[in-house]
Amino acid sequence: MNRNLIYPTLVFFLFLCSVSTFAQKTDPAISQKVDQLLKQMTIEEKVGQLNQYTGKALTGPASEKKNDLQTEIVNGWVGSMLNVKGVKNTREVQAMALKSRLKIPLLFGLDVIHGYEVTFPIPLAEAASWDLGAIKQAAHVAAEEAAASGIHWTFAPMVDIARDPRWGRIMEGAGEDPYLGSLIARARVKGFQGEKLGGTDAVMACAKHFAAYGAAIAGRDYAAVEMSDHELWQTYLPPFKAAAEAGVATFMNSFNTLNGIPATGNSYLQRDILKNKWNYNGFIVSDWNSIGEMSIWGYANDLKDAAEKAIIAGSDMDMEGSAYRKHLVQLVKEGKVAVALIDDAVKRILYKKFELGLFDDPYKFSDEKREQKVIKNPKNRTIARAMARKSIVLLKNDADLLPLAKTAQTIAVIGPLAKAKRDMAGSWIVNADTVSTVSLYEGLSAAVGKNQKLLFAGAGTALSSTDAEIAEAVATARQADVVVLALGETWDMSGESKSRADIHLPGDQVKLFEAIQKTGKPIIVTLMAGRPMIFNEIADKAAAILYTWWLGSEAGNAISDVIFGNYNPSAKLPVTFPRAMGQIPIYYGQTNTGRPYTNQKNKLYLSVYIDEENTPRYAFGYGLSYTKFSYSDLKLSKSEITDADSVVLSFKLTNTGKYAGEEVAQLYLRDEVASIVRPLKELKDFAKVLLKPGESKLISFVINKEKLSFYNKDLKWITEPGVFQVMLGSSSDQILLQSKFTLTR
Ligand code: GLC
Repeated sequence: MNRNLIYPTLVFFLFLCSVSTFAQKTDPAISQKVDQLLKQMTIEEKVGQLNQYTGKALTGPASEKKNDLQTEIVNGWVGSMLNVKGVKNTREVQAMALKSRLKIPLLFGLDVIHGYEVTFPIPLAEAASWDLGAIKQAAHVAAEEAAASGIHWTFAPMVDIARDPRWGRIMEGAGEDPYLGSLIARARVKGFQGEKLGGTDAVMACAKHFAAYGAAIAGRDYAAVEMSDHELWQTYLPPFKAAAEAGVATFMNSFNTLNGIPATGNSYLQRDILKNKWNYNGFIVSDWNSIGEMSIWGYANDLKDAAEKAIIAGSDMDMEGSAYRKHLVQLVKEGKVAVALIDDAVKRILYKKFELGLFDDPYKFSDEKREQKVIKNPKNRTIARAMARKSIVLLKNDADLLPLAKTAQTIAVIGPLAKAKRDMAGSWIVNADTVSTVSLYEGLSAAVGKNQKLLFAGAGTALSSTDAEIAEAVATARQADVVVLALGETWDMSGESKSRADIHLPGDQVKLFEAIQKTGKPIIVTLMAGRPMIFNEIADKAAAILYTWWLGSEAGNAISDVIFGNYNPSAKLPVTFPRAMGQIPIYYGQTNTGRPYTNQKNKLYLSVYIDEENTPRYAFGYGLSYTKFSYSDLKLSKSEITDADSVVLSFKLTNTGKYAGEEVAQLYLRDEVASIVRPLKELKDFAKVLLKPGESKLISFVINKEKLSFYNKDLKWITEPGVFQVMLGSSSDQILLQSKFTLTR
């Protein structure tokens, strides 16, 4: 045998051996069509399917880039385009692909992260709703609008666990917890894809960024990730596994290295775990030139070496890297890459094109009439407003200042974000018409009663307020009965490549707050941001605080609904808010320590800071309501079980206040002793319950083997006998009922 062929044959043999004997269910009829088409393809056409370009130039004025792209597409060198949107543009570009020899249609991908035309709250805000149905519906509306605009594929949901608020992309995910993150990943995949791909109201979803991107060192985007395999499996992989089990059509790998190996060249991640252990048969797209960047990391000698490493490691499609386009054919000719690896990648991609129905009708998603009908459907704004309301977290409400009584005659709306529109959409907007985004000021204006008056002072920008601007704001506040102060981040202070070394409120905003505070007027602070921020002065002194994130098209109406009591806030934080930068990373699910601090007087030789508390400013799962809830009558069906059994936990939840409201009751467990130290508490279930004033409901949770299992030091998913603490609460730091049971084996 030709010596050059030994290595790739060996790689391919190992690949075949490791491929599990059973894959996720596929349709044999489609597989047959894929095989028949594959047989007709040249190696150049095969490599073409693995190649994805951004298509902005295609829909712009004549240019060399535009010509080059057209030539590439017509010659069958392109399998997918991103950033081509709208029926007109996608029809034009698809027509180019249909001029190629085999007429294989293109996939059109786009970052429909939180809405297409109507912008929904950023994903982290939606996660704060803990409302899986609403989250799924939001994704479905985004898919409907995108699919009506020629889009086949969204690069969402981002399911990266994030425990470092310095990382700007924390805004794109579902926060810090694997359990909540897994349920939300599943809801978003189902929302985007529906129950079966191929409908023109659904798009392929994409679980990203595989994997552990949220653990970038120092919270700095694109940085290396170093973590134990145990932490990877226990904390960072679960939402990806949930997405795969939910049938997510594609994965996207990530820019980071994992323990020294770039994700896009990491066969442990892409082949061993995803394609083999999890039997995944969708395809993996690289992140933007993440293949090419392997030579910058120092993991590949050049683009050709990167292409070889990436295809062997299981990266199926090359986004904007041209690594495959330029080098794969030659690598096959040199015997460095087995054709079978190329064929496997091509088949995965072609399978999705057949599944979407693109071979039957390449223009299926590019229908002018449907685009007109679906886009700007008023129902979508109604759904967006409901989602936005559910995402608002009430952090503080001294003396029940909120909801604002109609007797508050004059309301001063102050601050750099009071009339902001673009900022309400956050980053990753696609087609949003931010002109029609409802600002806070507009929302309040639309809602105030006829005997109420709004005053306004912008007070400069998010980054600076002059003395004169602050003085004007103070003078405006003095004329009012109450102040609504809109502070936070502008849309470009969180998101990709927007890590911050200091997450305090930006600019002069605290100074502005303190100046207004001196007037003695009650202040309702609305904090708009893509991440947790540090705002201790406001937390201590403001009368009321609403964390409103970036709420999208209906931001102002949703915040107004909450301020005037048309909606009773029900959201809970999906991520921990630190008191100080030095506490980061800070998250609720930490293990104990051999020297725990439990409010002892003498802090010496305990796991504490000498200059700050251990506790967060606001804990995971925290959020207030205009009403109050009581938890009582906790009962366990058994005090001892084997892992073949389950324990049914029940308790009574009562609305003891005067407003109807929803409570997110949270169940945490602690495995007291195990062969690997386990967290002090882990979220294992929750229920979001609507109760009228005085109403009670009996709530029950089933604790089964799945909820008692963990990865041991050998990465086996097991249970171990022992005592489990049961904790029920309204937040991870407000445990209201406790009990225990024993797992006997
Ligand atoms: C970006 C992001 C990724 C996105 C892709 C396409 O760099 O990392 O999340 O889907 O490129 O825009």
